[in-house]
Amino acid sequence: MTTRELNDFLTQTGPGTPMGDLFRRYWIPALLSAELPEPDCPPVRVKLLCERLIAFRDTQGRVGLMDEFCAHRGVSLWFGRNEENGLRCPYHGWKYDVTGQCIDVPSEPEASGYCKKIRLKSYPCVELGDVIWTYMGPSALAPPLPGFEWALVPQAHRFVSKRTQECNYLQAMEGGIDSAHVSFLHRHDLRSDSLHVSRGAELTRETDARFDVIETDGGMIIGVRRPAQPGHLYWRITQWIMPFHSMIPPYGDNALNGHAWVPIDDESCMSWCFTHHPTRPLSTHELDTMRNGGGIHVKLVPGTFRPVVNKDNDYMIDRAAQKANKTYCGVKGIAMQDAAIQESMGPIQDRSKENLTSTDNGVIMARVRLRKAALAARAGKTPDGLDPKTHAVRSASIVLPESVSFSEGAAEALTAREGTAPISV
Ligand code: FES
Ligand SMILES: [Fe+2]
Repeated sequence: MTTRELNDFLTQTGPGTPMGDLFRRYWIPALLSAELPEPDCPPVRVKLLCERLIAFRDTQGRVGLMDEFCAHRGVSLWFGRNEENGLRCPYHGWKYDVTGQCIDVPSEPEASGYCKKIRLKSYPCVELGDVIWTYMGPSALAPPLPGFEWALVPQAHRFVSKRTQECNYLQAMEGGIDSAHVSFLHRHDLRSDSLHVSRGAELTRETDARFDVIETDGGMIIGVRRPAQPGHLYWRITQWIMPFHSMIPPYGDNALNGHAWVPIDDESCMSWCFTHHPTRPLSTHELDTMRNGGGIHVKLVPGTFRPVVNKDNDYMIDRAAQKANKTYCGVKGIAMQDAAIQESMGPIQDRSKENLTSTDNGVIMARVRLRKAALAARAGKTPDGLDPKTHAVRSASIVLPESVSFSEGAAEALTAREGTAPISV
């Protein structure tokens, strides 16, 4: 049972909260590399874990991520002039480098050394897999760089997008863990979305789904079995990696999909969407489909990361399509079906009122794991999921004889080994 206290504990990630401290021990996807396309381009506002930050790429191409507000009198540096290796506040000209160090206070004589004493809070950044990642924790505890396969394959094998979601990260992430909903919520899209259609998609329409959860060093694997041909089970196996990554079981020859559910603040999150294929470039058809809001990606309001289909237009619900079994809930597109359903729970779901069943075992386990990790980190223990080896995993979908356990039968399929194709039906 998730009490109100535990719900607060799990959903609050601001500075100084236990979960916020835990999240700050990991490399976090902060923005797309493409948002800072060239040296001295316009700065970008970034809100992460309730902190308002500004990102910019300096003249040498280095990325800085620092407090959004000028140390002088608090102007947003979004108005800043990005010039000559620093971001200059347009109000009185104070200038900062990528480390947040103030390097010019025009009103003070240089000899006074005044600007040396001024430094904005800033976080180190790295670029990996078309994403700018940041580390917001104590510098002595910075972990090695992430080892997710999607980030390490050649660029042509990968497509990354992100969209804002108007709810707490946890309820969005719980949707990524709970693969029982696929047989209902996405039921009809399994036959119509070209990035899903496959034998596996047909088998997934079977609603008799049983869960088997196994803890791993970095998180857990969630096996969901449904009946296949006589004597066999169809296993859809999701990976969850601490603290907010999930990998969706694949369909047929389609590419692999995964998410990172990154808190913007306690009432909204960034849903990062990663599609990659380990052994081949993505096809023009795949790329076109994803750019047009197919698969796990969505169409965005131009100039923003807000989906075109959103709360303000009631997710463009189409009751006729719902009645005609074109979509199960009336919302078009798999990703927006998830987002609409999750946002409908309110910005922070009150978990003290829920009634869980055995198909929620993955969700329950993730909550237990996160709570344990946050408490352990407070007591000085290294959190799980920092080691890049724990990221080198894949989701899988596989048909196995009834007598074989999924952890044994799918062991190979669940490992990301360079040059090997995904295992998927
Ligand atoms: S407020 Fe930024 S320089 Fe004065
Ligand atoms: Fe979903």
